[in-house]
Amino acid sequence: MVNMKNTHVFSFKWMGLFILASSFFFCGMSQAKNKPIRVSNKMVAAADSVPNLQNGLAKTPPMGWNSWNAFHTHIDEQQIKAVADAMVKDGMKAAGYKYLIIDDAWLGMHRNNKGRLIANPKRFPHGIKALADYVHGKGLKFGIYESAGTKTCAGYPGSLHHEKVDAETFAKWGVDYLKLDNCYNQGVSYIKRYSDMSRDLQATGRPIVFSICEWGVKDPYQWAPKISNLWRTTGDIQDNWQSVMTILDQQVGLYKYAGPGHWNDPDMLEVGNGGMTTTEYKAHFSLWSILAAPLIAGTDLRHMSDQTKEILENKDVIAVDQDPAGIEGHKALDNGNQEVWVKPMQDGSEAVLLLNRGPKRAFMTITAEQAGLKKATYYKMKNLWSHKYKRTDDLIRGYVPSHGVVMYRVWPESN
Ligand code: GLA
Repeated sequence: MVNMKNTHVFSFKWMGLFILASSFFFCGMSQAKNKPIRVSNKMVAAADSVPNLQNGLAKTPPMGWNSWNAFHTHIDEQQIKAVADAMVKDGMKAAGYKYLIIDDAWLGMHRNNKGRLIANPKRFPHGIKALADYVHGKGLKFGIYESAGTKTCAGYPGSLHHEKVDAETFAKWGVDYLKLDNCYNQGVSYIKRYSDMSRDLQATGRPIVFSICEWGVKDPYQWAPKISNLWRTTGDIQDNWQSVMTILDQQVGLYKYAGPGHWNDPDMLEVGNGGMTTTEYKAHFSLWSILAAPLIAGTDLRHMSDQTKEILENKDVIAVDQDPAGIEGHKALDNGNQEVWVKPMQDGSEAVLLLNRGPKRAFMTITAEQAGLKKATYYKMKNLWSHKYKRTDDLIRGYVPSHGVVMYRVWPESN
């Protein structure tokens, strides 16, 4: 869904087009909120005929940057190159963000006379291969956006019925990551549309992360793990707290579908875009990490504040997201406005996140046992935002600010 506040960047013209194109999307979302749509055995069988995606990629949730949340359709070559420079200079690359992904509006309005996609000649005069080369030259990976429909959401040529030639074009350009959207899908079976692209990407022989952006409409976790590395579980994130909480609620119970090579995707990060407080952005980032979500930053890295940098580059929180066991966290306790989310880690420790959705600061506690930790003489705890250690016999507790989190990593210890 579009950010209503951002009408200056996402004009009403686009909005009209988008609504028209995505009637499926909107009716799907209202259904998604109420009751999951059941996927029939026949549909799953259709996906079974496609070879398993075995590209060896995304062993941990992909990390990177995508142009959409910062720039929407206003992208161009110079600006994207400057973002690539910034990713290296400002420590994002060193913190683990490796994919630079250009979203909608990179395309020319028409295919060329060989039926191939071309870059928008005004915005990307040197073409996509040159841009990919530049990004690779920075030691980063390059990603691109398309739609499994006749057009992208912003109205550029889509990949539906052109999967083979487009997959080949992407491979030739040096694309390392494809995000495939759902606009203008003409009601063609989603499993067919996404399976076709999965098969054709694999046939190129180039390892390309495959990111399905189907907005969670048709329970993608039931069919997408086999054919993709990640799949969106929700409509579009917006830069506000309500949106983050709505998305969080849609993740409950999905942890069993995620693991190395295949991840639930609650959409990209809004950290740094100005619509939330620093406390709320810390909570957003912590929650995405406990969910083992792809960490795809979406702010203008050319002008990142120190606060935004501190959040996006918090190594302790990133380590939770990137834990090699690849276990998505789940909700262990729910007291209305107060929730506790836990994520088992490979070394036997656990990430424990106390979330306060309420309007006032709250004192929260959970026992080690309730958090799923094994019995121990005592527990060593690291606060992942203050980076300080302490010990506890049993209770994990803290004052949690309104719309905020306290996040610990807890190790069972015995003398
Ligand atoms: C959809 C997607 C967004 C973004 C836009 C681009 O809304 O869900 O993430 O890619 O299209 O138009």
